[in-house]
Amino acid sequence: MPTSLSVPTSHSASTNGVRPRRYLTCEPTHFDVRYAINPWMREDTRVDRALARAQWETLIRAYREHGHTVETVDPTEGLPDMVFAANAALVLGGRVFGSRFHAPQRRPESVAYGNWFKAAGFDVTEAEAVCEGEGDLVPAGPFILAGTGFRTTTAAHHEVQEFFGLPTISLHLVDPRFYHLDTALFVLDDRNIAYFPDAFSPESRAALERLYPDAVIATLEDALAFGLNSVSDGRHVFVAPQAEGLIGRLADHGYVPVPVDLSEFHKAGGGIKCCTQEIHA
Ligand code: ARG
Repeated sequence: MPTSLSVPTSHSASTNGVRPRRYLTCEPTHFDVRYAINPWMREDTRVDRALARAQWETLIRAYREHGHTVETVDPTEGLPDMVFAANAALVLGGRVFGSRFHAPQRRPESVAYGNWFKAAGFDVTEAEAVCEGEGDLVPAGPFILAGTGFRTTTAAHHEVQEFFGLPTISLHLVDPRFYHLDTALFVLDDRNIAYFPDAFSPESRAALERLYPDAVIATLEDALAFGLNSVSDGRHVFVAPQAEGLIGRLADHGYVPVPVDLSEFHKAGGGIKCCTQEIHA
């Protein structure tokens, strides 16, 4: 196995990109489950909107308490999934690669987010192929990890590489419960990731093993608890409290888990990361 392919890892979590982050979010004012576009969603589900708001506010407070900046896009009535800000774009180096949603129900979200980015002074380029932003595009130090299989297309991966000039590594998702890359994998810091191997094709799994021989490996239970839909600032990991096994393993690796419960959002197939768009400097 060519070791030169792997991302160099260190034994400490303390120096690999720990920094204050800028997050874009959307208040869950209109959050609901009104259509079913992933296996978690059921049209007869009732959302407790007051609980959803309280959970969401806890997440925002946790980010701010840890020194991160949180901004919000105005929610649009009639767009119940707009709270999942991660899907709207990939923002790197001040450049916005805007999404083209797979589901027609979500397509108008691009307009609302695009307007926010333009008002905030960003140039926005829209994807030509189906592309769901940070849901499937995960900046990982020197490259971008890119999911495909259910939403974002490989054509979009190519567009992303041409747009940002960063090597973009396509990973094939195979389990519909983990339909976005950010439900199966998250970046811990500039050098390491956590992921659930069975969410990937055998070949993509092999690629991840080569790149990240020291990755934190999650179980099916962790993944079903939305444990991989986590946000890390390089040290603190904002993670679903239900992912108990993963929380223990993160702590063993030197990270500091910060449990935040977004159980109401799981009904729509989303969790912490889905609600968080990172504006990468
Ligand atoms: N209901 C939304 C959808 O199916 C959930 C999006 C979750 N977002 C994410 N980044 N995984 O599109």
